[in-house]
This record gives sequence, structure tokens and C-alpha cells, in this order.
Amino acid sequence: MHATGEHGLTRLRITDPDRDRSAIAHAGRVLREGGLVGLPTETVYGLAANACDDSAVRRIFTAKGRPADNPLIVHLASAAQLADVVAEVTPLAAALAARFWPGPLTVVLDAAADLPAASTGGLPTVAVRVPDHAVARAVIAAAGVPVAAPSANRSGRPSPTTADHVAADLGDHLDLLIDGGATGLGLESTVVDARGARPVIYREGALTREQLGPIDSVGRGVAASPGTRYRHYAPSCVVEIVAPEDLETRARSLVTQGVRAGTVASGPLDVTGAIRIADFRDVEDLAHRLYGALRDAEDAHVEVLLCAAVPEIGMGRAVMDRLRRAAASGADTRARG
Ligand code: TXA
Ligand code: MG
Repeated sequence: MHATGEHGLTRLRITDPDRDRSAIAHAGRVLREGGLVGLPTETVYGLAANACDDSAVRRIFTAKGRPADNPLIVHLASAAQLADVVAEVTPLAAALAARFWPGPLTVVLDAAADLPAASTGGLPTVAVRVPDHAVARAVIAAAGVPVAAPSANRSGRPSPTTADHVAADLGDHLDLLIDGGATGLGLESTVVDARGARPVIYREGALTREQLGPIDSVGRGVAASPGTRYRHYAPSCVVEIVAPEDLETRARSLVTQGVRAGTVASGPLDVTGAIRIADFRDVEDLAHRLYGALRDAEDAHVEVLLCAAVPEIGMGRAVMDRLRRAAASGADTRARG
């Protein structure tokens, strides 16, 4: 365990939960007692609070500036806790949990009656997952309660994939920040409704459709998930999605117009005057680096960030979904998501 104080924020570096037992126990206590903890998962960092403590969960909404009708994901240490937070574990949910947990899949089920309304955004349903991250699971187990955790960004901003991103967005609101290094996948979990016979996708994510198998009509699901209504993942620069073969030409044209252009491209680009924010190897590498690249573009004062489109298969679906949302409106309109 390595603790650093930064503007009064306690930050603990934990890599191995077995070695850093006292830090894990401390984080569990902070959560159980109503505190807010920045927590690494395998997807993105979460802003965690005791899901059974209504006022602790309400602090999450204040810290993020999140609309009250956008429900949170409840995180468990193991699938055995599922029955504590839902009214009924459907056969589909049991099958998905057995196959994909711990992992980047969130299931929506009817909520247990005693779950605070803050955790469910007032909906009769609750979203639940078991993260595939040893530190996250150890902290949740130490807390001894289910843990509500949205992505640990200010509402509408790119999701955080490092502890520094969390500190930059939410440092003033946290009781504790656990630094577990950069997150592995870099994109959020896939959210599915698991009340019926087949999953309905509410949000594309790190678990691909190819992995998920047969699904129910997709469009209906998206409309039913509050989070998809809001603008998301938006840096302060304009984001433009460009076909890879057009990227150099577009970058040159912006540079010629005196625009400070940045690129996120597959392989190196050679455009004098354009700032290479990220070169990615494949779609998994892009997923891992995308949110960091959006923040790096801001830090580099990029005005227009050109991002190479990727094919919409595998992780490419979720990557394009996030890019479209980031690109959805200009840098000057800030809706809340
Ligand atoms: O990977 C992830 O899922 C990360 C890490 C921290 O676990 N969490 C995350 O949480 O992305 P958040 O709050 O940023 O996104 C949760 C999404 C939102 O789109 C929300 O609307 C949807 O899940 N959601 C939550 N509860 C729901 C419900 N009962 N019905 C439909 N959608 C729900
Ligand atoms: Mg989020």
C-alpha cells in the first residue's frame, strides 16, 4: 500500500489485494460507513458507495452532476449476492452470471423491494454486475454490502481509465481513491435486460454481441435505458469520425485552415502540423486507449480531433457507439449524461 495526499484526497495504490489487506479493509470500512470511493474495475473506474445507504448513493449523483433518473450499476463481490439485490434471479440471469461473471456484463432485473430508490433511479429494476478485478471484488467483499458505482467521471465527460482521470474530475468529492493502475478493457460493461428469455441490449460494451450469443430486438432496449438518452463521453474539443482512408486529407485540410487538429488513427499518420494523440494497433487497443485519448486531446488544446472509424464488429460496436456520442454535438453544448 502506498498512500499519497493530494489536495486532502487520500489515494492508495493497491495492486495485490492479498498483500494490501489493511488498505482493502480500510476501503471496505469507508464504503460501509457511507463514504465515496474511487475504485478500479476491469472496464473503467467506478465512483463507489454503499448501495443500501440512500444518502451515500445520493452523494454520487451530486458528485457527478448526474441526472437523478439515470440509475447506477450495483457491483457485487460474487454472484452469490445476486439474490440479495433482485426480486427474482431469472433462468437467463443465472445462465449469464455463470458464463460471464466476473466480467464486463451488467444484467437488469426486477429490484429487491428494500433497495434504496437512489440506486435504481426510481425504476422497478436494478442493474447488477460482478467486476473482473481482484481489487474491486476484495473491496466490495470487505465492505460486506453491495456497492453502487457509475463510471467515476463528471457527468457527460469521458469515462476514467486511470486514477488520475478520477482525481481530475472528482477529487474534491472523494473520501478515498484507490489507484489500481490503468484499467484493462477501457470501455464500460455491456448492459442487458435479463428478465425475458433472451438478453435485450441496453448498452453496447466490452462484452461483444458475438460473445453474448442470441439476443432479442435491440432497438427496444436502448429506448428503455435512461443512460442512453444523455450526451456522453464528450471532451471539450470537436470530435469528427472519419473513414481511415480520408483521415490524412481531412487532417491536412484542417491544418491548412489554421485549425489545431489531432488524430486517433490506426498506424502512424504523416501530416505536418497535426498532433498525433494516439495510434492504435487494433480495435481492442483503441477501446483500451479511447477515453484517455479524448482527455489527452483536451490537454493538448486540440480544437478538432479526427478519429478513424472502425468496423462495427466485436468491440468495434461499442467503440463506434462511444465515438458517435462524443461527436454528437459541438464542443460548446454540454448536455448532462
Ligand atoms: O463498466 C461499467 O459498467 C462501469 C464500471 C464502473 O462498472 N460502470 C458504468 O456505470 O458504466 P454508468 O453508471 O456510467 O452506466 C450505467 C448504465 C447507464 O447507461 C444506465 O442508464 C444503465 O446502465 N442502467 C442502470 N440501471 C438500469 C436499469 N435499471 N435499467 C436500464 N438501464 C440501466
Ligand atoms: Mg458512465
